[in-house]
Amino acid sequence: MKLFRKIHTYLKMVFLYLTKRIVRREDYREEYNIAASTYHNWLNKMNKHTNTILKIDHLKNRKNIHILDFACGTGYISGYVLSELKDATVKITAVDISDKMIELAKDKISDSRCSFIVQDGTDFLFGEEDEKYDAIFCGYALPYFNQKKVIKEFHRILKKDGTAHFITNCKGTLKGIDEIYIDTMKEYPSSLNKIMEIRYQLPKNQNELKSWFKRRQFSIIFLDTVKEIVSFSSPENLYNWLKNTGAIAGTGHIFTEDEKIVESIIDKIKNRCYYEDKYWINHKFIQGIFKKE
Ligand SMILES: C[S@@+](CC[C@H](N)C(=O)[O-])C[C@H]1O[C@@H](n2cnc3c(N)ncnc32)[C@H](O)[C@@H]1O
Repeated sequence: MKLFRKIHTYLKMVFLYLTKRIVRREDYREEYNIAASTYHNWLNKMNKHTNTILKIDHLKNRKNIHILDFACGTGYISGYVLSELKDATVKITAVDISDKMIELAKDKISDSRCSFIVQDGTDFLFGEEDEKYDAIFCGYALPYFNQKKVIKEFHRILKKDGTAHFITNCKGTLKGIDEIYIDTMKEYPSSLNKIMEIRYQLPKNQNELKSWFKRRQFSIIFLDTVKEIVSFSSPENLYNWLKNTGAIAGTGHIFTEDEKIVESIIDKIKNRCYYEDKYWINHKFIQGIFKKE
């Protein structure tokens, strides 16, 4: 029976791949639209790590600075940068594919120096002129893109000496969650709807991220890897946190019958994430600041 299920899962995945049933940008948009109103739960725990890449002394006391907040979400980074840079000539362009995330960002930031665009990030970059920006910020969004393509575009649209500020999840984050989804896929091959590639897009470690930037003639100003562990009182709370913060955005499209699957996933969290009366999940990310040479 087990072998039959394995073969069934494998064949179904090959079929989904060949028929291009892959979780795509529209699916991420849909899931971030749902998570938008609860995204602050992510920020409450993680913005302290984002702050590390928001070193912007080099942008202070300068005129006509233009900044890009790429995949800006609800605007945490833009809000922070605007509060630090008081000059009236500063301009921020904040782009995101999710109209709901942008709606919330607009509610929070009423500063005419910031303009918001709802668009796919890659399409946006392709439409931008060379050497336009003094700095680019990208918080927790790099794996949604073809990183090498995006880093090449960042290099093109940054001015000389412009800086790129990143915080990105890397391999080893949400340890155990991949396996939980893979095991659930094996249990419910008939419910498989789409396959998800994001885990293959995560940088392995900070050396890999460094090599992507070095290849594009960026020098390194700052680079570090951080871990954050979060605990919950029940497996349901852990699962809801992952869902409500967008941490597992995209997974909602892997299966067709979501309710049955959710039960099975929570059951696995109960068994695999339990330690000393709590349910634990880790986050691992790389923080980096790079300069265009
Ligand atoms: C984890 S949130 C990060 C938001 C914000 N940068 C922050 O640090 O709080 C990831 C964001 O990436 C956006 N995103 C995902 N795919 C995108 C795409 N193809 N183009 C533009 N934005 C995208 C999502 O809508 C979401 O707002």
